[in-house]
Amino acid sequence: MLIAGNWKMYNGPAETAEFCLGLREQELEGVDVVVCPPFVSLAAAVQLLAGTEIAVAAQNVHWDDEGAFTGEVSAGMLRELGVYGTIVGHSERRQYFGETDETVSKRVHAALEAGLFVIACVGETEQERAAGETEAVLRRQLAVLEPDDNLVLAYEPVWAIGTGHTSTPEHAQEASAFIKSQVEAPVIYGGSVKPGNAAELLAQPDVDGALVGGASLELESFTAICRAAIRS
Ligand code: PGA
Repeated sequence: MLIAGNWKMYNGPAETAEFCLGLREQELEGVDVVVCPPFVSLAAAVQLLAGTEIAVAAQNVHWDDEGAFTGEVSAGMLRELGVYGTIVGHSERRQYFGETDETVSKRVHAALEAGLFVIACVGETEQERAAGETEAVLRRQLAVLEPDDNLVLAYEPVWAIGTGHTSTPEHAQEASAFIKSQVEAPVIYGGSVKPGNAAELLAQPDVDGALVGGASLELESFTAICRAAIRS
């Protein structure tokens, strides 16, 4: 089981340090825990979680080693900092920052090549779901990815992200099984995961963990979800 906290654009270095100091005191054996702070807070997280089993990942990565790409960060730079992995292709990147299946593919390949662990996100929008296109969308998003020991896929239906409308466990299971039929990799679920719904989502046979946004920002709710994963 993998529980990853996607902090999005929350938690600067000082808040990150405070969170990580609290997190290192927790007894979290039996679950793989990852925190994904914004770029500016990665160094603080790496430093404060050093010597623990908790991994630190970025939220995005560029495909080139270096170059004139204002605002971007390379896999080599993340590695130099001691960062373990990265999220790629989050729906907010696709929706607001022009991320496409092609750029997702380039980022994933470069990150894996550089030795980073990757959480690649896929998922359909509300409109696509209503039109019965969920599998077609997933098939298209997954067509650019290949299995890799360091690749985990996150099924994040866009209609469930930050909305409080969690997917039913049955739908999460069905979509995760479909994803595995396309790319053989562990699949974690994301979209309004909370301490109250984590156990039933994680109980699904093809759900191998969770990518948690809002509920990962408070130590108490994040560790409650980690504990649900330990019990499942
Ligand atoms: P949420 O976000 O848990 O706040 O819905 C999940 C995500 O975007 O990864």
